[in-house]
Amino acid sequence: MKESIDLNNLPTHIAVIMDGNGRWAKQKGFTDRIFGHRNAIQAVRETIEGCGELGVSYLTLYAFSTENWNRPQTEVKALMSLLIGTIKDELPSMMKNQIRLKAIGDVSTLPQSTQKELQYALDLTAENKGLTLNLALSYSGKWDIVQAAKKLANDCLEGIINPEDINTERFASMLSTGDMPDPDLMIRTGGDHRISNFMLWQLAYAELYIFEELFWPDFRKVHLHQAIVDFQMRERRFGKTSEQVKSEG
Ligand code: IPE
Ligand code: IPE
Ligand code: MG
Repeated sequence: MKESIDLNNLPTHIAVIMDGNGRWAKQKGFTDRIFGHRNAIQAVRETIEGCGELGVSYLTLYAFSTENWNRPQTEVKALMSLLIGTIKDELPSMMKNQIRLKAIGDVSTLPQSTQKELQYALDLTAENKGLTLNLALSYSGKWDIVQAAKKLANDCLEGIINPEDINTERFASMLSTGDMPDPDLMIRTGGDHRISNFMLWQLAYAELYIFEELFWPDFRKVHLHQAIVDFQMRERRFGKTSEQVKSEG
């Protein structure tokens, strides 16, 4: 599968909704959903490694949504400690592989210990030159749009800009992904065909690839390759006609 990938036509930014951990655990006969979350780490590793090997520039992983705070507190707690543990454990490998960690979301709502560990990893990896690994934590697309709108409103109040100066480019620059290109490819495991409040603005023209039968803990490099090969067969028209796109080459 990897051999079929055209390295000159890679998605610059891949975003992933890592879904199906709970169902995976259930399917394996475990009553505790956290078993699925624990087994999701290998899938995360393979995805990062796979993107690094190919030369993908940005990978965004949806790790925890604003709405996920409404899950049972035991699950939320377990997810938070798993998050800290994984960031800690993976730091040496991130440094070795030149991975630059970023985070988007309302990080201030995370437990203090998680925030501290996260900030340490963000600072340590800030100058790395390889893959940008962007973790969406306590993230929701609506939150992102609202926080951008607030910043713009403040800039207007302070006289830095006029309301007429607000356009799509300026708005996008205020989103949490302001310094990143929009995702070209969005992958979702677990078979659901929805966005679940992920990057609502940024996914405007992303190609969607859904794994119908695959839960996140079973995701491996071969699946990443499969999604990229499929992406490369699509015609991205951005509203134009097929003829226009073809004549532009
Ligand atoms: C995704 O798996 C992980 C998070 C949302 C944190 P789920 O926990 O949503 O697993 P399912 O969808 O219930 O199977
Ligand atoms: C989306 O999965 C959020 C993450 C993967 C972090 P959910 O399991 O929360 O999505 P819904 O509830 O099925 O839409
Ligand atoms: Mg789910």
